[in-house]
Amino acid sequence: PETPRPRTPIMGWSSWNNYHVNISEEIIQSQADAMAASGMKEAGYSYINIDDGFFGGRNENGGLLAHKKRFPSGMKALADYIHKKGLKAGIYSDAGINTCASYWDQDTIGSGMGLYGHEWSDLNLMLKEWGYDFIKIDWCGGQWLDLDEETRYTLLGKMIRSIRPDVVYNICRWEFPGKWALTTADSWRISGDITNTFESVMHIVDRNADLWKYSGPGHVNDMDMLQVGRGMGYEEDKTHFSMWCMLNSPLLAGNDLTKMSDETLEILTNKELISINQDPLVYQARKLEDHGDLELWTRPLGSTMSGRVAVALLNRSDKNQTMTLELEKVAIIPGEGYVVKDCWEHTTSSGMTKPTLSYEIPPHGVVVLKIDGTNPPFNVFQFENGKK
Ligand code: DGJ
Repeated sequence: PETPRPRTPIMGWSSWNNYHVNISEEIIQSQADAMAASGMKEAGYSYINIDDGFFGGRNENGGLLAHKKRFPSGMKALADYIHKKGLKAGIYSDAGINTCASYWDQDTIGSGMGLYGHEWSDLNLMLKEWGYDFIKIDWCGGQWLDLDEETRYTLLGKMIRSIRPDVVYNICRWEFPGKWALTTADSWRISGDITNTFESVMHIVDRNADLWKYSGPGHVNDMDMLQVGRGMGYEEDKTHFSMWCMLNSPLLAGNDLTKMSDETLEILTNKELISINQDPLVYQARKLEDHGDLELWTRPLGSTMSGRVAVALLNRSDKNQTMTLELEKVAIIPGEGYVVKDCWEHTTSSGMTKPTLSYEIPPHGVVVLKIDGTNPPFNVFQFENGKK
């Protein structure tokens, strides 16, 4: 029988944003330790994903080797270490001959670090012998060989499923790959690499805005690893995390978990936001209103007819702005009474009947609300004036 894979976006940590290829078994172990000890694990984070950089060439039979100096105990021992902490282990490869940052003889087919020519043996090694529970498959080497991405990723997906159906499969292409991805993978990237700037965060939000229809239980748009705690301001980090939660992205922290500030930990472990990201309906938020710098995003929670919605009021400008939410716009009938929870202020107001709510929002800031109406029989998107 198939072991089920998660239906909601995965939560974890990935090595790339903070370390690039400069990873080692000590670094990975210390991140696993910190995930287990910091409160991240309790908040729902479970994957420790090793990205590019662990490669150490191939042996004379073509067998994949880990970097001898940086991973002296080997990749299986490392996965075992992660599992002993009660966590899941993730690994990385490429659909083509080389990965993006690990080349090794890229001119000779079969000698690179990518899966090309080693599909079955590499996948068996990584997922079965080593025991990794997640795999991200990059596309640098696919470009190099001019491979057809649908054919390639579908084949690799079939192999992964046949080796271990519970392995979570991520496609790393830098745009939405196409509808075929929904039945092939658990998540797929939709943009180039994130940087720790507000512009980059907003760019990815924009890239994802129209892709809501492809997101659902077991298959989501991957907005890339988080930059929370890596240089943006407090409000910007909150906005970044809020939008990744609202838009169903996997939540893969990219900061050094051993040296987080209290603020960073508070953002990454915000229970209200995480419950939006992990909502069982897995409905990616849609933009209902766009007033230039001010945007209204919403998603139903639980079911489209539940009368419960999450709302984000986003201020992209660099000045304080007041935003007013008309409750009817998000299918709440105010006269019937509603409860509103502010997910960052941690306040709850019950018995509300006001038709509008106004908030002062700081530059690059966001207000995220969970609103519970009194069983209104309306679909939240009934009110969007025919806009897709
Ligand atoms: C490109 C990907 O988009 C990044 O996330 C990272 O995996 C690097 N490749 C690794 O080389």
